[in-house]
Amino acid sequence: MSTTQTTSIGRETTGREQMDIVVIGHVDHGKSTVIGRLLADTNSLPEGKLDAVREQCRRNSKPFEYAFLLDALKDEQAQGITIDSARCFFRSDRREYIIIDAPGHIEFLKNMISGAARAEGGLLIIDAEEGVQENSRRHGYLVSMLGIRQLTICVNKMDLVDYSQEAFEAIQREYEQFLSQVGIEAMSFIPISAREGDNIASASSKMPWYTGASVLEMLDKFEKTPLPLDQPLRLPVQDVYKFTAAGDDRRIVAGRVETGTVNIGDEVVFLPSGKRSRVAGIEAFNLPAQQSSSAGVSTGLTLETQVYIRPGEILCRCDQPQPKVSSRLKVNMIWLSHNPMVKGRQYKMKLASSRAAVWLTDIERVIDASNLSSSTSRPHVERHDVAVCTLETLKPIACDEATDLFQTGRFVIIDNFEIAGGGVILSAEDTTNSLAEEHVKNRELAWDRSNITPGMRGGRFNQRAATVVISGPTDTGKRELAKAIEEYLFNCGRLVYYLGVSNSLAGLDADLKGVSADRTEYLRRLGEIAHLFTDAGTIFIATISDLDDHELELIRALNSPGELIHVNVGEDRFARAKADLQIDTVDLSSLRKVHDLLQAKNYLLEYHL
Ligand code: GTP
Ligand code: MG
Repeated sequence: MSTTQTTSIGRETTGREQMDIVVIGHVDHGKSTVIGRLLADTNSLPEGKLDAVREQCRRNSKPFEYAFLLDALKDEQAQGITIDSARCFFRSDRREYIIIDAPGHIEFLKNMISGAARAEGGLLIIDAEEGVQENSRRHGYLVSMLGIRQLTICVNKMDLVDYSQEAFEAIQREYEQFLSQVGIEAMSFIPISAREGDNIASASSKMPWYTGASVLEMLDKFEKTPLPLDQPLRLPVQDVYKFTAAGDDRRIVAGRVETGTVNIGDEVVFLPSGKRSRVAGIEAFNLPAQQSSSAGVSTGLTLETQVYIRPGEILCRCDQPQPKVSSRLKVNMIWLSHNPMVKGRQYKMKLASSRAAVWLTDIERVIDASNLSSSTSRPHVERHDVAVCTLETLKPIACDEATDLFQTGRFVIIDNFEIAGGGVILSAEDTTNSLAEEHVKNRELAWDRSNITPGMRGGRFNQRAATVVISGPTDTGKRELAKAIEEYLFNCGRLVYYLGVSNSLAGLDADLKGVSADRTEYLRRLGEIAHLFTDAGTIFIATISDLDDHELELIRALNSPGELIHVNVGEDRFARAKADLQIDTVDLSSLRKVHDLLQAKNYLLEYHL
């Protein structure tokens, strides 16, 4: 089922089956002509369009081209009738087709990789005279990588090779061999002449040696990809809405079910946070309340218990196989940006509804998709390269291996607000914080130590250094508590420092547009600040709202070898972390509790006022 809402000239929404098809191939091999022919020969053009374009060509004394039909349609569409000019439509007896005309293959790739376009089948056009070219191979490779399983190869311009069976078969042999190397099999090879209309919408009399299907017949043989209902549930959370009515503290978790089915009563887990609850209610857009919701449907869920989660997490069922939670991904990726992808630079990865900072840490091999040659010693990934490489995040993400679940196994890489590349996850290691740990290891090796050790510094104030993280929901009195601890310890003669969120945001983090915009980077820097303070022998106090398990682990990792004490104030929203001290509501006894904890753990060596 396609969810395209676009209306276009010559297209009524009939409720018939629809299928998205992409037409690809090397430049000038005849993609647009094939599409123009399909539109014309299936009478899918607006009344009089064909004649009008022919007449226009005659008046301008230029030969008529079927490809002009697409431009003519686009002109009309540009007048405001359609929003989406990269698609056109035609119908056969069996169904309606939405053709994704890939004006440049970069645009097509961006759409395919991001999931903006979901082609179920592909027509790959090869010029009979020019033969298999660079993009014929590159596109074939990408079709396989992007999971388009139904592919037909059209050997076009057969008129230029006298409709020769040998010419056709030579191309078929060569290309079949290429496809087998990338592990796919074409459904068929069809000799066509798009310009002459041979084997497009009907059998051609000029190639009696060919008895197979025409392009149109072949398209009708493509099968609809079944909705992934039998797969494990994956519902990437797009948003969390709060009911606003007085006293109602329920939340609606909203997103589109990518795979599987969710029912009222299902026990569910959000990943990567690991928080669990049970489904209390299901709302679907514009529909009455539901008992269940399944793949392809945008859904809002209410839960039996209130769990605090953020958009970007994936909702899964506890009784089904779950996604990987990983910070180290082995991927197969195509790079599209003019700037090569380099190690050490921070990129953004978008996977389902999540976004994460990501680094390229290893390039296993770079493949030239146009000839399948590969190199294992490349320092970076250039434009058009396909690379098997390792991407690492600071905070683990939830994902699937693409062979298990394609929907949550593909990703795009954003650089400078643009799609710079994308691909599929080959494997996701069950590691967390590997990048932070590696970083800390290198940092400690490089650290230029003086003769004054952290122990000596802390010792001067009769203390051992520590970072005290005070977590909890917003407005629970964390800040007041932190300041009270700071003041008390200071008055006791300790070396102590409280860092408020706004203090670092106005200074070191002034380039970040607020904590929520770049939370992981904010936390990464906080971890480094904490490390500096503990290295300086200080008791360092920081408050962080709505911290989750992985974020706490990140700060702990970056702060090391410094030590960390965790105090949680208010509701305990952690899935795993057990705070060193839980304070339900801040009151006069809270300061004493923190003090006693620090003393019990030997951070305050000698108590004196
Ligand atoms: P780009 O969009 O630029 O990549 O090209 P394209 O693949 O869309 O090719 P297009 O359909 O524009 O065709 C390129 C040229 O090949 C045009 O001049 C067409 O008239 C010509 N052409 C297309 N199909 C045939 C054919 O079957 N026979 C002959 N002789 N010429 C054809
Ligand atoms: Mg074209």
